[in-house]
Amino acid sequence: MNAIDPRMIHRKLVFRIFLMGLALSIIVGAGVWQMEKNKIGQDILWDAKNGFKDFNRQIRTLLNTPGILNPDRIHQHLVLEMAGQRENQSGQFVSMGIYTLGGELLTLVTDDTYENRDLVREKAGQLDDKIQTYKTMKFGVIHIDDTPHMQIISPLSNDLGELAAYGETFFAVFPETLNHIRRKAIKLSGAAVLIVMLTTGLLYPMVVTLLNRVSSLSAKLFESNLEMLKVLGSAVAKRDSDTDLHNYRVTIISVKLAENLNLPKPKIQRLIKGAFLHDVGKIGIEDDILHKPGRLSEEEFTVMKNHVPYGMDIVGKAEWIKEATDIVGYHHEKYDGSGYDHGLKGDEIPEIARIFAIADVFDALTSRRPYKEPFSFKKTMEIIIAGRGSHFDPVHVDAFEKIALTLFETYSKKEDDALKTELADLLKEYFYC
Ligand SMILES: [Fe+2]
Repeated sequence: MNAIDPRMIHRKLVFRIFLMGLALSIIVGAGVWQMEKNKIGQDILWDAKNGFKDFNRQIRTLLNTPGILNPDRIHQHLVLEMAGQRENQSGQFVSMGIYTLGGELLTLVTDDTYENRDLVREKAGQLDDKIQTYKTMKFGVIHIDDTPHMQIISPLSNDLGELAAYGETFFAVFPETLNHIRRKAIKLSGAAVLIVMLTTGLLYPMVVTLLNRVSSLSAKLFESNLEMLKVLGSAVAKRDSDTDLHNYRVTIISVKLAENLNLPKPKIQRLIKGAFLHDVGKIGIEDDILHKPGRLSEEEFTVMKNHVPYGMDIVGKAEWIKEATDIVGYHHEKYDGSGYDHGLKGDEIPEIARIFAIADVFDALTSRRPYKEPFSFKKTMEIIIAGRGSHFDPVHVDAFEKIALTLFETYSKKEDDALKTELADLLKEYFYC
């Protein structure tokens, strides 16, 4: 887990809330638009349906003898009906046709005042015996010159309630009705979008307040984790050599080498944790072996090797430092397989452990210890290069050779505080998003 950068989270939050508000607005706006269109569509249907029923009532008496319908009388009636039709709210009938029970077109009247009458005539009166398939009133919408026309087809009954003929009408929707639909739908959709945006805007400060609290807690948790890393590293350093400097330097040197090898950030994060805690298992090694000034006997060295499994055991107990395992468990492996604790060779050894091994040996050789003076840079590099392919990964040694002198000049004599500051900068760079 890295520390959360509140500014970055804030930017992400603003962007996501904006996207969410926009998506919601589009969904709600489109939904309202569709609902309003459907509602007004139902109003138009209601107008057309009632108009047709009214029309059926008006000609019912003329249909009392279904076998011998009088086309002229019905035609005259339809002409009168067309001329005096009740003005509907949403449109008007522009065509009325009557079919016999046999499906023959008896008469067709279109509104001569209607501008699209010719186009309507092309569509009307074309049903013939197909009309007989209409057992109840049916509706369809046909667009003529971009204007929706409701086609209504229905059986017609006479005064006796008998099926006496079939009727087909075209009901043209007024342009004003269409404009009204559009205006109303736009207004309602706009209102819906505004409400969603306002709600999102009102929620934003609340989310930011909560986020700030979470960021603050997260930062504290992260600081605690870093403190744990430092405390553990420092505890073992105090037991081993009375100083934290070795931990600081090997961490910085390892990171510099890893950067030179272009390792990705997550690997360098693991490298930092591992470098800090590489010898944490020495806490479990008894003083007379850990602090023995001279060379360890074979038995003593066997005991000393236990710091690796001890360390694995320690770092395995906490989630945040588990990532140190690669270095804690494998920093004494050698490239040719002669190291401990697992005898791994080559690429079997975790990459960051191979990198760390060079930094660890380099710093040990160039540092003053109770039992030795610091080696010169030249002698140290001779030893490192001699270990190329046996102790160390040859590719890593080649990369190290290019930066070793700069590292030596920069860090071998650097004071405690300066190293601390540089390490703090590294932690900031790699653990704060
Ligand atoms: Fe070690």
